[in-house]
Amino acid sequence: MTAVFFNPLQDGYTDDPWSHFAEMREAEPVHALLTGGYALFRYDDVFALLRDPEMSVDDRNANFDDMDRAALVEEFSEFNEFESILGMDPPDHTRLRRLVSKAFTPRTIEALRPRIEEMVDGMLDTMEEAGTADVVGELAFPLPFDVISEMLGLPEADKDQIRDWSGAIVKTLDPIITEDEMREAGEANRNLEGYLETVIDWKRANPADDILTAMIDAEESGDRMTPKELRDQVNLLFVAGHETTVNLIGTGIKELLAHPDQADLWRNDPSLDANAVDEMLRWVSPVQFSRRITLKDTEIDGVTVPAKSFVQTSLASANHDPAKFGPTAEQLDLSRPDAGQHVSFGSGIHYCLGASLAKLEGQVAIGRFLRRFPNAEPSGEPVWNGRINLRGLDRFLVRVQ
Ligand code: HEM
Repeated sequence: MTAVFFNPLQDGYTDDPWSHFAEMREAEPVHALLTGGYALFRYDDVFALLRDPEMSVDDRNANFDDMDRAALVEEFSEFNEFESILGMDPPDHTRLRRLVSKAFTPRTIEALRPRIEEMVDGMLDTMEEAGTADVVGELAFPLPFDVISEMLGLPEADKDQIRDWSGAIVKTLDPIITEDEMREAGEANRNLEGYLETVIDWKRANPADDILTAMIDAEESGDRMTPKELRDQVNLLFVAGHETTVNLIGTGIKELLAHPDQADLWRNDPSLDANAVDEMLRWVSPVQFSRRITLKDTEIDGVTVPAKSFVQTSLASANHDPAKFGPTAEQLDLSRPDAGQHVSFGSGIHYCLGASLAKLEGQVAIGRFLRRFPNAEPSGEPVWNGRINLRGLDRFLVRVQ
């Protein structure tokens, strides 16, 4: 038997990671990566690991010695100093998540619906006038960007500049990253931090009814959040708020144009809205990997993973696992009854804080796009963004009339 190894740098991977995942689920579902650490590919293993209270998410608990990628992380150590709740264990995680989550209750999010509908309709108007439009640049990216900017109460900003920075930063979430990419990410991160510090100072002088003001109040009213913790949580909300949802909407629309029967189903049945978004989240998997760090030797599916291992959980592979979703796992089916059991938002204590917001944005943007432009069709080949984890499109031209 030939040894299998997971190589996301292989030609053709971006177009079709799914066949690689299928191979790994069969041949080696608990896989020691050539670059160090492990990756899990089966739903049951991924789900259990994400929810295991004995796992850490704090990089400082990982043994970096045998990891190529981590050596780079060490070299450009600013990322070790970035302390968002995504990389924090209890009790700090519990304390900060409680403060940040106040603004993300399902009720608060649902109240944003009319504003999100208004934003989407404005973007669709512009697309209609042009006749041919880039779905990513004109809808999938600006919608979540404008929504999170408005929720945080950020001033008008140079969107293209920030898009470049955050694009470079999220590259560090890939299982494999080059030294140049890491250096670029470090530079982008310094720029974004500088920008956010200026914005936070400005907000201190100009408080308003927004999340950033609420977070500043929490920081100023005691020692519950330090200025650095505040900046890092704003950074996370800002970047996670748009770099993920862009893929749900962009790749989601591309996939629906490639599955016209499913697009018709959604278009004609508004009662499908909620389930359809869950199925798109499962199908697209806008964040393809999350991760945990073992604190002790841990047996997973018969393999002993040593303490201090960095374990990548392939959310995308779990979402397409026939052992969970049955023989139709590799088909897009908007009426799938258990679509909502996808792990696209992770699971356990780090379950995505923005899940309700992302679903609302996806529902409104994709649903309204399909209904407004029943004859939409691709105009040229989609351009991928070159990311392994936050896999999505940079550009996707569509004729809407
Ligand atoms: C389709 C869009 C999105 C996807 C697929 C997604 C996915 C994820 C995933 C996989 C995690 C890690 C969960 C884990 O490891 O168990 C996460 C965490 C998080 N997400 Fe999202 N996300 C999306 C949108 C958003 C939005 C819109 C926001 C905020 C405005 C957001 C804020 C966060 C935060 C703050 C965390 C950290 C939670 C914690 O560590 O406690 N996300 N997300």
